[in-house]
Amino acid sequence: MTQTNPTQPETFSGNFTQQEPIADEAIEQAVTLLKSGRLHRYNVDEQGHSEVATLEQEFAAYMGSEYCLACTSGGYALHIALRAFGLEHGQAVLTNAFTLSPVPGAIVNAGGVPVLVETNEDLVIDLDDLALKIESSGATVLMLSHMRGHLVDMEKLMPLLQAKNVALIEDCAHTMGARWNNTPSGSYGIASCFSTQTYKHINSGEGGLLVSNDAALMSRATVLSGSYMLYDRHLAGPPLTYFESSRLDMPNMSGRLDNLRASILRPQLKQLDKNCARWNERYYALATVLARHSRMVLPSRPAQEYFVGSSLQFRVPDYEATDCIEFLGRCSQRGVELKWFGADSPTGYTSNHTSWGYVEAQSMPETDRILSTLFDLRLPLTFSIEDCECIGRIIVDCVESR
Ligand SMILES: Cc1ncc(COP(=O)(O)O)c(C=O)c1O
Repeated sequence: MTQTNPTQPETFSGNFTQQEPIADEAIEQAVTLLKSGRLHRYNVDEQGHSEVATLEQEFAAYMGSEYCLACTSGGYALHIALRAFGLEHGQAVLTNAFTLSPVPGAIVNAGGVPVLVETNEDLVIDLDDLALKIESSGATVLMLSHMRGHLVDMEKLMPLLQAKNVALIEDCAHTMGARWNNTPSGSYGIASCFSTQTYKHINSGEGGLLVSNDAALMSRATVLSGSYMLYDRHLAGPPLTYFESSRLDMPNMSGRLDNLRASILRPQLKQLDKNCARWNERYYALATVLARHSRMVLPSRPAQEYFVGSSLQFRVPDYEATDCIEFLGRCSQRGVELKWFGADSPTGYTSNHTSWGYVEAQSMPETDRILSTLFDLRLPLTFSIEDCECIGRIIVDCVESR
């Protein structure tokens, strides 16, 4: 997907939003399901089979979690996780200032008040600022976003939270398949939420998965998700005794996953680890080219972090805002689509905390400094290693030609 002509600058013609096709096995499973007509998760056949319940069982096994609940989106999972945790209206919820808008959106949806915590140069939550904000806000829960797949030092984070009795809910939208010190991302929190939206690591267009080892919390989440009185049809749900009060106390906030999406996710789950390694080959191919250039700064990746390089971020710290805009233009002209987190107004999926009008404005000088020169790009698996190297050369060239 590269075009080279010795007299012309190199260009790239690949598409940054092009996913791999859904595999034949998944298509066949989907067709079988469509022929059965049983698309609703509780519309089970004579054998009691439901694709959603089986997916939940398989994802719980993948994660080594006791329980799993599938729902309509990652953002929905985050929202019901907070409600099931027991968040009350108007309570503070700590979260990263550097994340995507569905995260503060989920907090607001659950009636919480987002309290933003600074990010550091490695694009993870700043633990010193977190300690200060725990004290000043009185929050009892942190919704930690592993934004763009960057994992904070979990061995430092957990004692800090435990000492202050702050619960952890993990947003693992970008860390499905990732690990910290060999422990899967999503194993630390009281509840953890994953997304299966198209640009994530398994793709059903939309979808979410909530995992937890807390039976009471999961019984509440299950009823919240819209189980009616059919929670006994779950294969990765908590024991039925846990539903005695939640079945009547929890409102039905209808957000179930359907069997069609589950049917195309199940074969993808089997390929997840293999695909994570493929993403990382692409990440390292690009990162190696970028790292040779002294003006570009990539976040460090600690040895304990096994990340999934489905996207890459870098900064050009000596750029002013006008330099950033011109750089984006130069890259775009040569076919490389970058996103910039420093823009004044949101574009496409990309926004920063200054444009979340539903969150009280908060001073985030360190985050603002970092985001002002932070660029981001997706690395779909449809790109080859050569494509990633070409993208790297173009980016380097465009930084040089300032
Ligand atoms: C960091 C992060 N968290 C949560 C979400 C929410 O996921 P969904 O789109 O499935 O609601 C996203 C979605 O892109 C995300 O990027």
